[in-house]
Amino acid sequence: MTDHVLVERPEAYPGVQVIRFNRPEKKNAITREMYAKMTNALAVAGADPAVRVTAFLGTEGCFSAGNDMADFLAFAMGGTMGTEVLDFLRTLAGAKKPVVSGVDGLAIGIGTTIHLHCDLTVASARSVFKTPFVDLALVPEAASSLIAPRIMGHQRAFALLAAGEPLEAADALQAGLIWKVVDAVEAETLSLAARLARKPPEALRIARDLVRGDRSDVLARIDEEAAHFAAQLKSAEARAAFEAFMRR
Ligand code: COA
Repeated sequence: MTDHVLVERPEAYPGVQVIRFNRPEKKNAITREMYAKMTNALAVAGADPAVRVTAFLGTEGCFSAGNDMADFLAFAMGGTMGTEVLDFLRTLAGAKKPVVSGVDGLAIGIGTTIHLHCDLTVASARSVFKTPFVDLALVPEAASSLIAPRIMGHQRAFALLAAGEPLEAADALQAGLIWKVVDAVEAETLSLAARLARKPPEALRIARDLVRGDRSDVLARIDEEAAHFAAQLKSAEARAAFEAFMRR
C-alpha cells in the first residue's frame, strides 16, 4: 500500500523532520490513518533531540485538499469519528519545537488552518487557501476561529472561515497567514527549517513559547469547535453536501 504520509529526515538538512502529504491522486486529502501517522511523527520529533524542526510539505501543485470527504461521509452515515483528527490537532497545537510549512497550490480546509500552528510558512504564487467549512454545513476547526481573527482581523477571518472566500498567496501574505511568497517552495522550506535547526535549541524554544504565548485557550477552542463540528457532521445538510461531492 502506498504511504500517504511520508516522514523523512533528509540528510542534506540536519535536524529537520519532513512530514509530507503523499496522496496526489486524491489531492492529498487526509484520512484518519494519515492523521495518526502525523501525530506519531510530531510526538517522535518532540522526544528526539536529533529533530529540531518539523516541516510540512505536500506534492507539486497541491498541499492538501483537506479532510477526506469519504471519512466525513462515513461518520455522517453513523460511523465512528475516532480520535485521530483531534489527537493530531492537540499534538500540533502543543508542539514544543518549531514547525514550518511549504505550500504549492491547493490548501483547503485543514490544509489552510494547519498553517495557523506553523511558525513560518512559505507559499508559491499560484497557491490558494480556502476553507469551505460552512458550504459543507461544517464549522471552523483547529482553533482557527480563535487564531485567525487575532492575526488577520475579524473581516478577513470571517471572509476566509465563514464565507469560504479563497485567499490567493498575495492575500494570504497580507493577512499574515503566511510569511513569504517564494518561487522554489520545497528548497526554501527546507533551507528555512535547516537554518532554524542550527540555532541554539533551548533559546529557540523559549523564544517560540514567548512569541506564541499561552496555548491553553487554543487547546480549549479546538475542543469547543470539535463539539460543534461533530454535531454538524451528523446533520442532514452536511450529509447532503458530502454525498453531492462523492457523486460528482
Ligand atoms: N476528500 C476525498 N477525496 C478528494 C478530496 C477530499 N477532500 N479532494 C479531492 N479528492 C479526490 C476527488 O474525489 C478526485 O478523486 P477521483 O479521481 O477518484 O474522482 C481526486 O481527488 C481529484 O480531485 P478533483 O476534484 O477531480 O480535482 P479538481 O482539480 O477538479 O478539484 C478540489 C480539486 C480540491 C478543488 C476539489 O477536489 C475539491 O473541492 N475537493 C474537496 C475539498 C474540500 O471541501 N475539503 C474539505 C474541507 S473541510
